[in-house]
Amino acid sequence: MNVLGIESSCDETAVSVVKDGRKILSNVINSQIEIHTIYGGVVPEIASRNHIQNISEITKIAVKKAKISLEDIDVIACTYGPGLVGALLVGLSYGKALSYALDKPLVGVNHIEGHIAANYITYKELEPPFLCVMMSGGNTQIVHVKGYTEFEVLGRTKDDAIGEAFDKVARVGGLGYPGGPKIDKMAELGEANIELPKTHIDGLDFSFSGIKTAIINLHHKNPNVKKEDLCASFEKQITEMLMEKVNMAIELSKMDKIVLAGGVSANSYIRREFEKLNEKGIKVYMPDLKLCTDNAAMIASAGYYDYIAGKRDDLSLNAVPNLKLD
Ligand code: KG4
Repeated sequence: MNVLGIESSCDETAVSVVKDGRKILSNVINSQIEIHTIYGGVVPEIASRNHIQNISEITKIAVKKAKISLEDIDVIACTYGPGLVGALLVGLSYGKALSYALDKPLVGVNHIEGHIAANYITYKELEPPFLCVMMSGGNTQIVHVKGYTEFEVLGRTKDDAIGEAFDKVARVGGLGYPGGPKIDKMAELGEANIELPKTHIDGLDFSFSGIKTAIINLHHKNPNVKKEDLCASFEKQITEMLMEKVNMAIELSKMDKIVLAGGVSANSYIRREFEKLNEKGIKVYMPDLKLCTDNAAMIASAGYYDYIAGKRDDLSLNAVPNLKLD
């Protein structure tokens, strides 16, 4: 079954064709990073306008690269949330129009579910149940993935998402947007020699705004602190806070399969720390680096499993900017 995935929730216009939920036939991504960099972050209206300009061409390229014709598409899967409403509406409206014109079923996909599904493409043998640590620019949560379409959120951030903390710290340090990859590189050159506060919060929830503010205050009070050391200290401390909850979730759930998802799972330090869990008998899965950040292959994969489970949407489907997983 060929699923055409469409993703436009933030600053990537992406279209992909995936066969049977696991095999990428094409995966085309047009990133607007360069456009938004000069503003220090994503400007929603500019993102929407660029999606409109690009989506038709990106779709044509994706279908051509997949070596199929539009008629060979069985299902159209579109991100309908969470994300920027104007940006979401472009991909969703385009998907609805395609579904109507081609008379093919439409499935609305939750973007977070898509990030989790990126792992089904990377690991052909991976099947639920497992624990998923979802870390992106808009979300941080520990999810019990009970089935392909069944999720229970065990813990989530009470304030900033982890990617948001990376991006804001990088912005204050003048490292540019998106901050995660820049901090990742700079931290490799520094030493984690700065003590930072650790926020304690009950259960499996997270809080990342305290450490973000501490770094920002430190930078303002003492601009001569080596940026490399600041990045290394921030990355080490935030990872410790993350791993504390992950270990707690493993203990409570007694699960031995951990799956990473979302843009921050591209972070090299975080990946190394998760790899250490393998020594404790926990099997760790990490999405291919190019599937960690936003793409439409993950949407097509999630759409396939939604479709198999019987999900169908019609032309009244609307964008839901704060869509939850459970
Ligand atoms: O999953 P994603 O592409 O978009 C959302 O759905 O939010 O994640 C984007 C986030 C940004 O905050 C970006 O800074 C972060 O992922 N990110 C990283 C790295 N690569 C991307 N954070 C830390 N280290 C990285 N290497």
